[in-house]
Amino acid sequence: CRIRHYKFNVVMKNTTRLCSTKPIVTVNGRFPGPTLYAREDDTVLVKVVNHVQYNVTIHWHGIRQLRTGWADGPAYITQCPIQPGQSYVYNFTITGQRGTLLWHAHILWLRATLHGAIVILPKHGVPYPFPTPHKEVVVILGEWWKSDVEAVINEALNSGLAPNVSDAHTINGQPGPVPTCPSQSGFNLKVEPGKTYMLRIINAALNEELFFKIAGHKLTVVEVDAVYTKPFKTDTIVIAPGQTTNVLLETGRGSGKYLVAASPFMDSPIAVDNMTATATLHYSGTLATSATTLTNPPPQNATPVASNFIDSLRSLNSKEYPVKVPLTVDHSLLFTVGLGVNPCSTCPNGIRVIADINNVSFVMPTTALLQAHYLNISGVFTDDFPANPPISFNYTGTQPANLQTMNGTKLYRLRYNDTVQLVLQDTGMIAPENHPVHLHGFNFFAVGRGLGNYNPKTDPAKFNLVDPIERNTIGVPSGGWTVIRFRADNPGVWFMHCHLEVHTTWGLKMAFVVDNGKGPNESLLPPPSDLPKC
Ligand code: C2O
Repeated sequence: CRIRHYKFNVVMKNTTRLCSTKPIVTVNGRFPGPTLYAREDDTVLVKVVNHVQYNVTIHWHGIRQLRTGWADGPAYITQCPIQPGQSYVYNFTITGQRGTLLWHAHILWLRATLHGAIVILPKHGVPYPFPTPHKEVVVILGEWWKSDVEAVINEALNSGLAPNVSDAHTINGQPGPVPTCPSQSGFNLKVEPGKTYMLRIINAALNEELFFKIAGHKLTVVEVDAVYTKPFKTDTIVIAPGQTTNVLLETGRGSGKYLVAASPFMDSPIAVDNMTATATLHYSGTLATSATTLTNPPPQNATPVASNFIDSLRSLNSKEYPVKVPLTVDHSLLFTVGLGVNPCSTCPNGIRVIADINNVSFVMPTTALLQAHYLNISGVFTDDFPANPPISFNYTGTQPANLQTMNGTKLYRLRYNDTVQLVLQDTGMIAPENHPVHLHGFNFFAVGRGLGNYNPKTDPAKFNLVDPIERNTIGVPSGGWTVIRFRADNPGVWFMHCHLEVHTTWGLKMAFVVDNGKGPNESLLPPPSDLPKC
């Protein structure tokens, strides 16, 4: 193992998409940003220098950060932001992980343009558990707004209503031609016939789950969220913001050009977005003026396509990569996740859309929680996050009228090595919606999933404790529930939130605080000397 040094200069860069130009926040002037390469067991040092007018932090999404919570990155959770003109070195070791992850800004809505891939190769001499691909290609899916992204969310917060959706989706930063800008270029993936390619697909979008499809080709899923899966073939993958999926693409005897598409998946009745980003798969040495189009692109509300895909995911669970799902549970939690409305005297409509977990709409502190925890600073957070909803009701039916959301910076406390079972139950207070929930600091096992209300008497009998998928971001189905299990083997303060950025902004977030253990390797390391101050 070795030490890898990276320098991320956060700079503004004029960028043209959809036939118009605007300055965007970038790392090293690039959109998407540079790929961070490392090997399992490597130590990575990334010096982030802030040359822009915004406060900045970077999160290494899915990296376990064992005992190094100071390098995790969510603003005011594990660190104060890097202020304009300042820098901070993120220093972490990659332990027991290999595959594709992503890095992204974790403050304001800067993630829209401040993101990139993390590629973790296996240790030297350790092969993939599938045939070695001829080539590997990073494919980052994202969004593009013609206007300033911070203005979009600020306007929404002033109005109390939902923000504008993006003007386009992107594949490796390019939307492809659209009616309003036919000259807009798209990503071109050059391939040779008769080879196997590995696509490392990342959804870095702020607010959209996406379908990804290539005309005339099947994809074999081999890994999600840097965890190997039992390989399975599919026409379409579905990927939520924060998730990553590695697929093998066999080029066979193809020739010419094929359309590649990333289109939105929204199983909510309030969906308003239907833009598709396009790219081309181009067999080198062959001519074709137009690309073969998709025969049956999934419609935006193709919930069965998404469910099929999600139900097909299984951990590899081999001798080399065994599944270690906790079989006993120290904390049995049920968290409702959903949107709601609160009265708002300054909003034009008198109401404000909010989001909550167990009726707590999380309030961001002004001191980083990890520092408050480490230094025993009182008054920053309380550790009374409710283990269950304050009032249980028919979550997917008619809600009672007396549900008030409270605001607070509430954490749930775990002791080192405690095991947790967490039911995430969607509520349909405004409308049922799919919430991709991301947990920092851990991988978890997704042991069960269903529609309607979770039933603690009958549903546990159906849990998969043998080869459930292990990951860091999971979709809670619209009008349904998902159950995860994890072991709290990482001391620190760990954020959990919906990875739809607008829902995070509205309050669909909380954090776990995990106390140090007794052993020498069970406590949080001391903070680095250059840790930014608030
Ligand atoms: Cu990828 Cu807390 O985020």
